[in-house]
Amino acid sequence: MSSKYLRDSSYIDGKWFNSKSNRYFDVLNPATGTILSRVNDIEPTDVELAIQAAERAFPSWSKMTSKERASIMRRFYELIIENADELAAILTQEQGKPLSEAKTEIIYGASFIEWFSEEGKRLYGDIIPSPIANSKIIVEKSPVGVCAFITPWNFPSAMITRKIGAAMAAGCTCVVKPAHETPLSALALAALAEEAGVPKGVLNIVTGTDSHNIGRVLCDSEIVRKVSFTGSTDVGKILYRQCAATVKKISLELGGNAPFIVFPDADLDAAVSGAIICKYRNAGQTCVCANRFYIHEDVYDKFASKLADKVRKLKVGDGLDKGVDIGPLITPDALEKVRSHINDALGQGAKLIEGGDTHDLGGSYFKPTILGNAMEGMLIAKEETFGPVAPLFKFKDIDDVLRQANNTQFGLAAYFYAKDLALINKVYNGLEYGMVAVNTPILSTEVAPFGGVKESGIGREGSKYGLDDFIELKYVLLGGLE
Ligand code: SIN
Repeated sequence: MSSKYLRDSSYIDGKWFNSKSNRYFDVLNPATGTILSRVNDIEPTDVELAIQAAERAFPSWSKMTSKERASIMRRFYELIIENADELAAILTQEQGKPLSEAKTEIIYGASFIEWFSEEGKRLYGDIIPSPIANSKIIVEKSPVGVCAFITPWNFPSAMITRKIGAAMAAGCTCVVKPAHETPLSALALAALAEEAGVPKGVLNIVTGTDSHNIGRVLCDSEIVRKVSFTGSTDVGKILYRQCAATVKKISLELGGNAPFIVFPDADLDAAVSGAIICKYRNAGQTCVCANRFYIHEDVYDKFASKLADKVRKLKVGDGLDKGVDIGPLITPDALEKVRSHINDALGQGAKLIEGGDTHDLGGSYFKPTILGNAMEGMLIAKEETFGPVAPLFKFKDIDDVLRQANNTQFGLAAYFYAKDLALINKVYNGLEYGMVAVNTPILSTEVAPFGGVKESGIGREGSKYGLDDFIELKYVLLGGLE
């Protein structure tokens, strides 16, 4: 692979940094199994250097006017957009998603840098009428300080920009640990930040395979004041516990188990097209993608047959090839999880409607799958499958489908299709989720708060609410005024 934005080491204090250990790890192309690059494997103890660099950079970055920060971030945004094709090619090769999806991710990711660069200028405080004579109450907003970010492989670019966009705009400095499966998109962002004039130490990227100990250093550090993580609920819980010792702020974007409900009055064609996007984009490896399809009994057969017609036409292959809709899963382990969910469901009476097995292309390619007769006790109803499998559950009445949809420890995203306004109102009020999409399959945008309830997480990303997560409030009582 060649690109002027390919790098193979961590980026610390404005320099490309090789750990003394001189160990390297392979970055594989999941489409071919070939080695794309060998990246320096940082020692967990070297992560301290990145934290210290971020600490040194904090006073000047946080004191800069928001307008100055905004103009540097604007340049960063423009460079990402100018190089979107090149960044998309890197992303597809290390992650597997089709090139068009990768380009959408790059543009979506860049939107956070753009949006927060503007919103950073509007970090207004307050003056509160004081109940105490001759005094004034001032509320100021200030950046939390050095922030650490642990980001996933399923959106290797946008999950970084969504976090650093808000942090940088608020005046915070950053240490990012990208997933070791997909470090190249992260390093390309660092190269672009450097070119954009982001001062040294404001954005540091540490690449390594010892995620457990790197995470530990970030969580234990007294310098790091906030940790933000996107990934599994199990790892999120560990980080949450580790951050307790230093009482850090924490944001967690964790697993989902999204219901996708189709009511009998829904526009069925729109629901089927929506299901394809919502389920199969990124081969189903998206926290917000539909995991359980609840279809009203009156339209169940029709929906299943229309969905199967479309699924049969989906092209599986290398994301770089023209016309490919579904790339490989990230690793053979991911494929085994998908297979185990299907086998468990079939063993409990589910019916195979489409797919159900590895694809003839071999490797970690899996056929897009539909299962009928899905039931509540199956693994697929309880856990996030993170693969291209749509289990269809039949339902009769609203209260029961709401009960089933909410019967999970997760609460990230939910989708439903219906026309009746009173029904729509009842259903979105009844869904215990941080995000609900009605008659549309994609809800992610930089202007809205992304995040979940229950064990799907803490905090919000994107929008003005996302900026709040990087802010400390200081209340000043000015007394003795005449
Ligand atoms: C995720 O899967 O974590 C993010 C998906 C999105 O932003 O749409």
